[in-house]
Amino acid sequence: MIYPLPAVMVSCGSSEKEYNIITVSWTGTICTDPPMCYISVRPSRHSYDIIKRNGEYVINLTTSSLAYATDWCGVRTGSKHNKFEEMKLTPVPASVVKAPMIKESPVNIECVVKEIKELGSHHMFISEIVAVNADSELFDEKTGVFRLNDSEPLCYLHGRYYLTGKFIGKFGFSVEKKKKKKKQSKDRII
Ligand SMILES: Cc1cc2nc3c(=O)[nH]c(=O)nc-3n(C[C@H](O)[C@H](O)[C@H](O)COP(=O)(O)O)c2cc1C
Repeated sequence: MIYPLPAVMVSCGSSEKEYNIITVSWTGTICTDPPMCYISVRPSRHSYDIIKRNGEYVINLTTSSLAYATDWCGVRTGSKHNKFEEMKLTPVPASVVKAPMIKESPVNIECVVKEIKELGSHHMFISEIVAVNADSELFDEKTGVFRLNDSEPLCYLHGRYYLTGKFIGKFGFSVEKKKKKKKQSKDRII
């Protein structure tokens, strides 16, 4: 019951014939330096063997416009469907790994598997992030600030998809000193 989570599309495979997409919510960052993350996948998934064999995959972040494809890739198997074709998603070459990136996704995270932990129902692929590609449109032209929320990222909360809600504060806001209010001059016309 640890929610909300992202619902990402993980692309895998090293040749066009093998390319596949699996939707994953058991995923997250686990180390900053070296940059590491994980995905947990059931061995019964068609993607499991592909990821294990190649030792590489790409985490593609999802958005409101990718919600349908994200759900579909999470309820259909690559053993029966060509998910790229049927969802009209475009596989594009990644910069380091052989697995394709999904062009329509705003952020693609290239991962190399370092260890597989056979936990039980799911096996955890502990991986190093070897490259991150992000849409240039998401960077503020003037400040260079990365505005991921502008892409309307998809959240997964106990069986339902949501978009992010209201902004309520930035990192550290709870301890930030409040700015002193400027004294208003008495004759100031409001
Ligand atoms: C929102 C969502 C999250 C999912 N998260 C996971 C997950 O973390 N691990 C997993 O093994 N399967 C997960 N699944 C199920 C797989 O995506 C699903 O079984 C898919 O059809 C497997 O595709 P494949 O057989 O082509 O590999 C999720 C499905 C959905 C819809």
